[in-house]
Amino acid sequence: VTRDQFYSHVGREELVRTVFQGPSPAFFLFRRIISSQVERLRACLGDRFEINFAVKANPHPDLLAFLAGLGLGADVASGGELTRALAAGFGPERIEFTGPGKSEAELSLALQAGVGAVNVESLPELEAIAGLARQKGTKARVGLRVNPASATAKAGLKMAGDTHFGLAEAQVPAALEYLRDRREVLDFAGLHVHAGSQIVKAEAVVENLGGILALARRLDSLGLLRLSRINFGGGWGINYFPGQTGLDLAEIRRGLADLLGRPEHEKLLQGVRLAVEPGRFLVGESGVYAVRILYRKRGHKTEFAVVDGGMHHHYLLAGGMGQVIRRNFEADILAREERREAPDLKLDVAGCLCTPQDVLATGLAPGREVLAGDRVVFFNSGAYGPTASPSAFLGHPPPAEVLLD
Ligand SMILES: Cc1ncc(COP(=O)(O)O)c(C=O)c1O
Repeated sequence: VTRDQFYSHVGREELVRTVFQGPSPAFFLFRRIISSQVERLRACLGDRFEINFAVKANPHPDLLAFLAGLGLGADVASGGELTRALAAGFGPERIEFTGPGKSEAELSLALQAGVGAVNVESLPELEAIAGLARQKGTKARVGLRVNPASATAKAGLKMAGDTHFGLAEAQVPAALEYLRDRREVLDFAGLHVHAGSQIVKAEAVVENLGGILALARRLDSLGLLRLSRINFGGGWGINYFPGQTGLDLAEIRRGLADLLGRPEHEKLLQGVRLAVEPGRFLVGESGVYAVRILYRKRGHKTEFAVVDGGMHHHYLLAGGMGQVIRRNFEADILAREERREAPDLKLDVAGCLCTPQDVLATGLAPGREVLAGDRVVFFNSGAYGPTASPSAFLGHPPPAEVLLD
């Protein structure tokens, strides 16, 4: 969201009150924005799709409980996330476990919980889970996370291609035969693809969905096992930076209707359940990261605001998680009282860590004087905040995380 779009959900006055009454540093997440995103996504996808939330984007217990209450399922990537999802009230059959390095203990936990699917990412993992199911005298529901032979996803953070993610497409026939020959311990739970994250153009989202359907057709035409489910992964992007526009959901809806209605997909799609598992798209825009300015200071040339937070809470602000060039997030500076105009003021916001990387914004032009005690708020901070940040660095306490209506 842009700043103005955020303020159309949560007024600036309300945000000022929230931030000054609340703890600092803190993440504030607004349920009303999350509900609206869930509604928009449901309207875009229609009834055929189940929506799972990628827990890695934000595993806060209150948030997970809220999303479970809205009827979403969960995508988990570790035993820890699985435990949190179960505790938050997601039904085990609505949980899928995907990730390239699941340990034996984690696979056991998933089997014991009875999750909807463990999406295996290699042949040895498939053997491991078959062995465990046999040992426990139970059956495992196993999906295949496939890494397509030709990856087309135009994602900010690519995961398909020659990476360690998923089962390379060439190995799929062997995996299907393995599943087919071990029906006493393995139930085939379908295809899973997550090609990458931060896909920011509607056209690219549709292209990715189409690519996955084409892959599903290739699998189906092997005639080895029938597909009962296709999970198209996450990756739906949001607009972080000034000047970006959000995904055009109407365009995606049209593109998807066209794809699902094509005659070549008719047989494939009969009785097949469809799912997506976005993280960032569902919660990213709902949250702000709010920090207090401890000191104003002048460097040799640059004006700085040094704040009580930093990249140990919100690594993305400092360019972490696969960004090539750090760019400013949408931000605002909030004060309790009116300030005199300062049209020429340019300000860099630096965190409290001892590394030059801990710069959260550069060249902000607030238009008014900024003093110690003021708050800087960074929008679009609801996803990949604390969960994706080097939290142990310098031993600062974790930020507060508050879910508000
Ligand atoms: C398997 C899987 N599913 C879903 C996601 C969620 O991605 P995003 O937050 O971009 O939607 C990820 C992110 O890494 C992932 O690895």
